[in-house]
This record gives sequence, C-alpha cells and structure tokens, in this order.
Amino acid sequence: MASKTAAVLPTDVAREVIDPHSYAEWDSLLDTFDRLRDESPVALVQPEDGELFDPFWLVTRYEDVMRISKDNATFLNNPRPVVFSLRDAIEFSRKATGSNMLVDSLVVFDAPIHPKYRRLTQDWFMPRNLAKMEDEIHSIANATVDRLIAAGPEVDFVQLVSGPYPLHVVMQILGVPEEDEPRMQMLTQKLFGGQDADLSGTGMENMTPDQVVQLVAGAVQTFEEYFAKLAAQRRANPTDDVASVIANATVDGDPLPERDMAGYYIIVATAGHDTTSASTAGAMMALAQDPDQWARVKADRSLLPGIVEEAIRWTTPVQHFMRTAAKDVEIGGQSIKKGDWLMINYVSANHDPAQFDDPRKFDAARSPNRHLAFGAGAHQCLGLHLARMEMKILFETLLDRIESIELAGEPKRAVSTFVGGLKTLPIRFQAS
Ligand code: HEM
Repeated sequence: MASKTAAVLPTDVAREVIDPHSYAEWDSLLDTFDRLRDESPVALVQPEDGELFDPFWLVTRYEDVMRISKDNATFLNNPRPVVFSLRDAIEFSRKATGSNMLVDSLVVFDAPIHPKYRRLTQDWFMPRNLAKMEDEIHSIANATVDRLIAAGPEVDFVQLVSGPYPLHVVMQILGVPEEDEPRMQMLTQKLFGGQDADLSGTGMENMTPDQVVQLVAGAVQTFEEYFAKLAAQRRANPTDDVASVIANATVDGDPLPERDMAGYYIIVATAGHDTTSASTAGAMMALAQDPDQWARVKADRSLLPGIVEEAIRWTTPVQHFMRTAAKDVEIGGQSIKKGDWLMINYVSANHDPAQFDDPRKFDAARSPNRHLAFGAGAHQCLGLHLARMEMKILFETLLDRIESIELAGEPKRAVSTFVGGLKTLPIRFQAS
C-alpha cells in the first residue's frame, strides 16, 4: 500500500502506539511522540506476522493533523473504521450489522449525508440554546458538590464528581431518567473503555479481542433497544430536549431510519460524558498539584475559562480518530494512496512544541490555545460548547464551596487507545 520509501515505524514503537496500556503510561508515550514528530511525523504502522490489524499511517504533527481534519473531501470517516480497531472486531461488526462499525453515527458518515444529519441538532448545541440549561446544570453541579462535601475530606474525585456529573448532565439532555444512569454509565464504559478491565467491569485482566467485541456488541444492542423506546415516547409527547429533536427529525422528507436514529442517541449519550469526565478530572489534577493556583482562581474567576481550555488540551480525552484517503495525496513528505488508513493522533498534536510552548506544562494563561482536542473541520465536536459550559459551572461551584485542595495519592489513567484520561484521582480538600 505504501511507496517503497515509506517511513515504517520500528516494531517496538508501533506496538507502543497501539497498545492501550501505553496510554496509562502517559509520560513515556509523550516521549515517543516527541521523537516521532521530529524523526518520522507521518509513519507507517505495519502488522507483524499474525497480528490482527490493517496497516495505517500514524500522523503526529499538529499541522498535519489539522490539515487532515479540515480536508473532509480527501480524508473520509468512512469506509474504514473511524476508531483504530482490530481486524477481528471489524469482521465481527460486519457480520453483526453489515457495517465496519457497531454503531453508525455522525462520526462515521461523510458528505452528503453527514451535513444533513449534523444540521438536525447543530442549533440545539449552540450557546444560545444551551443557555436555557444553565440553571439546571448549576443545580446538578451543586448536588454533586453536596455529595463531595458529605464524603470528604479524602475522596476519589473521579468516582464522586468527574464521573457522575457529566453523565447526569448528558442524560438530562437526552431525557434518560435518573434511575437508568448507572446502566448508561456501564454501557458507555463497555463501548469506550472495553480495553480497561477495571472500567469494563468484567474483572478480566486479559480479554481476547473476541471477548472485547462480544462485550461491546452486547452494550450496543442494549443501547439500541433502550433508545427505540425513548424515541417512541418523544414522538408521542415531544418536549424541548434533544431526544425530541432526534425522534421527530426528517431528512429529505423522511424520518431517520431506525439504526441511524439509535446511532444518533448513542453518539450523544456516549461522546457526551466520559470525554468531559476526563477533562474535568484533568483540570482538578492540575489544580490539586498546584494548590496556590486554587487560591488564585478563587480570588480571580476570570482565570477560569483559561483553566478549562488548557485542561481540555492538556488531557486530550479523545486520543485519536482514523481517516481513509479518498485519493492519492502527499502528507508530511509521504505518499498516501487512495484507500490508505490514517491515525490522526490528537495527544501528539496537542503536545507539539511547534504549536504549544512547553506543551507538557499546564499553563492556564496559554494564549492562543488552538488545541485539537475537539478536532477540526466538518466533524469538529458537536458538544464543545456544552463541555466547556459544564466544566465552567462545576468549577465555579467548587471554587465557591471548597477552600483548599491537594492530591492524596497517585492518580491512575485508563487503559485505552481511544477515550482516555484519569480513572482515579485521590484528593484531600477542606470545605469553605
Ligand atoms: C471535553 C469533552 C469533549 C471532547 C474532548 C470531545 C472530543 C471530540 C472529538 C475529538 C470529536 C471528533 C472531531 C473530529 O473528528 O474532527 C468529537 C465529535 C463529537 N462529539 Fe465531542 N468531545 C467532548 C464532549 C462532547 C459532548 C459533551 C458531546 C455531546 C453531548 C459531544 C458530542 C460529540 C458528537 C455528536 C461528535 C460527532 C460530530 C460529528 O461527527 O459531526 N462531545 N468530539
């Protein structure tokens, strides 16, 4: 697939990039990306004998990731999977659903379908519409901080705050009743965190690819059944939530096919919380590591938007997406052929010193901060205003009610190549 001169990644480096465990060992992974951006910014990852994935180009520089993200005609989200997947998983998914992905949703559609689907909810997710949710999100934030204070002074911030809070917000906007939230949480973690034994809740340290696929397929089916019922309710009794918008939407005069409708709910339900949980936990880790910063923001709230934005860059919850070349093209000096698969690595792009001074430093005053954590181009995150708003409201509430904060143990990262971030963050705090 590649030209003879293609830069092929040495096996050990290639393994590191596709091994979910590497994403739990953040610093050494960042060292690897530093080397790759210097030495081979667009490099081919090839399977060794018996390895179960298709070759792909690993793209590590900010400017290349940006260029690919914005050129949606040349770099497609279909037909190859949009998330790095093992061949077995793709095959299974084809058998189970006739598609490369278990869920067909916004992220796997290209033009001309993608813009039509995206338009359905775009306005709903704009700040003007979201403003009407501010009070509700404030009360969710307050209830979350009530629970934190009641459990203090030493807690796991992920378990108590950054995990449940965004889940609760996104379930409110989807109209999922509170009693079903734990089920949704478990299902998302099966979909996104399938590689992490702690998160998938199976207790199995080393699942085979087949077992992971079965786990994920079961989660998708449960989601589909769940949302089919919700859509029927919203058609009968529409409200102003996004669930009603999706249930009653038409494209070219027809309602959405059932699978696409389920996909729409699933992408909002899943994309909307583990991501924001990760950036929220990251923000808290940065603040807890530097207690003076907590005091400074308490005194000057104008610092908060900078903290939120920097936390999103610094944590980069969505670690990669994949694209497929629609035609022969050159990128980073490499000849990419039509049909080739590419990994745009947001973790690496967001730590590119050509774009960000001292990229590993958490710098709340970083300006400009044009990070790629939300992607760019036609697929740029639909929920980015919501994510920022949720984080801002939560930290305003925490700053009002918490006097001081510090780390109380070693934070742990999730084992995942896709959506990553902290899975535990022990903190000690003093309420105001
Ligand atoms: C800090 C939190 C978040 C991060 C880091 C994040 C990141 C991303 C990224 C990287 C993409 C793909 C962009 C691309 O391919 O160019 C994406 C797409 C998407 N995100 Fe987010 N996201 C976050 C929060 C949310 C929230 C709160 C929601 C909704 C409730 C959401 C819904 C979506 C949807 C629906 C898409 C697909 C858009 C499309 O393909 O047109 N995300 N997000």
